[in-house]
Amino acid sequence: MQIRLLFSYLGVMLTILGTSAVAVHEAVSHKLHRQLDDHLMTLAQTAAQTLEVVKHEYYEHKLGDYPEEYHHKNLPTSLSQLMAPYKRDGDIKIPVHHSSHYYQGVEWFDEKHQLLIKEGNLFPEKELAENLKAFDFTNIKGKNRTLALPAMYISPQTGKQQITGYIRVTISTTALEAELFRLRWALALGGAIALTLTAIGGMWLSRQSLEPIEKSFGQLQQFTADASHELRSPLTVIKTSLGVMQMYPERIHPANTEKLQAMASASNQMTCLVEDLLMLARMDGKSGTRGSEFRAVPIDEIIEDLLEYFEAEALVKQITLDFQLINNIFLLGDPQQLKRLFTNLLDNALQYTPNGGTVTVTMEQGEKFIVIAVSDTGIGIAAKDIPHIFKRFWRADKARSYRTGGTGLGMAIAQSIVTAHKGTITVTSQIDIGTCFKVQLPTV
Ligand SMILES: Nc1ncnc2c1ncn2[C@@H]1O[C@H](COP(=O)(O)OP(=O)(O)OP(=O)(O)O)[C@@H](O)[C@H]1O
Ligand SMILES: [Mg+2]
Repeated sequence: MQIRLLFSYLGVMLTILGTSAVAVHEAVSHKLHRQLDDHLMTLAQTAAQTLEVVKHEYYEHKLGDYPEEYHHKNLPTSLSQLMAPYKRDGDIKIPVHHSSHYYQGVEWFDEKHQLLIKEGNLFPEKELAENLKAFDFTNIKGKNRTLALPAMYISPQTGKQQITGYIRVTISTTALEAELFRLRWALALGGAIALTLTAIGGMWLSRQSLEPIEKSFGQLQQFTADASHELRSPLTVIKTSLGVMQMYPERIHPANTEKLQAMASASNQMTCLVEDLLMLARMDGKSGTRGSEFRAVPIDEIIEDLLEYFEAEALVKQITLDFQLINNIFLLGDPQQLKRLFTNLLDNALQYTPNGGTVTVTMEQGEKFIVIAVSDTGIGIAAKDIPHIFKRFWRADKARSYRTGGTGLGMAIAQSIVTAHKGTITVTSQIDIGTCFKVQLPTV
């Protein structure tokens, strides 16, 4: 119970922590991506402002109108190379971003998509997208992010826009991913610590909250056990006295004979009820511990004895008792309890089967278990009632009208016994067709 409570508590906490961690991760990741895009945009816009100068210088260089010492064989490939003469003179100030420390790169294109120059150390190595009318962010291989945008010239006279070239900026997302990776670790570690603390707190809380419940449950069990035990002696006295009175029918006034019979039957019923309650209270007290009276029991012999015992009742009701038993099957258990389990099942099968029906007991052996099925061709149980039949004092309406006098404890006892023997009990049934109880028990 405590473990179940703790696990539900942990389950709830895990869901809350998991959801919060995902939310934090998403928020931080969104923010970092926004910052990266802002950075790309600033870089691209700064570069766009230099496009006109770059174009001018590039074409001038191409046409040879350039200081002699800067006449290279090849055209300049980087902005720094292109602007080197002016840096020396110091007569021109172009915001050149020396991006060698960063994994990033800027490319200048003319209006015909022709790459003029580039600066930096990271380039997408592919053509500029066609029909670029506005800015366009793209992820490359999940490691780099690129922003391409057209540089515009707006005529002051006509207000007409004209594309003068393009800028493409690429930046590595490795640092961002590393940051997110660190965040994930921090969240996982924080989550694990929080969960451990929750588990410790939950254990303490569940123990605190269950203590009074367990105490009152124990008191209730003790009370039921004591009350049923105390009721046994006066009941025995009543039963014995009634027995003695019935031994001398001539001393009984004829008008009292029926009343006396009713009293005898009621006291028998009450004895059964008290015994059942005592048994249940004792089984509850021992739940989870294997009884010291457990030993290897030949289950086939127990069932055989019971079938013999019920033979007379079946004969009276003209019920056919069919059985297919497997010999020499031993299981670890309490013979009295196992006897009680199959008594209750066979009793029900005979009680709830109309005259002329059939009750069958079969055994099926598994690798480490045995399945014993008790089936009948009786009144059956409605599908909606099946979940209730193992509840204490529960009886189906159909059963009540069919047979009075039952207490509704038989199946609750059967289930307690099966649980104490580490087994399972299942039921399948159809109204007016029959019922089948299957008991699976571990063998030795
Ligand atoms: N073989 C069966 N066929 C039809 N209904 C059944 C069968 N076995 C159990 N039931 C249903 O399950 C209910 C609970 O069974 P359970 O043995 O606990 O109580 P009971 O037979 O009514 O009384 P008692 O405690 O005296 O055995 C029954 O009242 C009946 O409605
Ligand atoms: Mg019964």
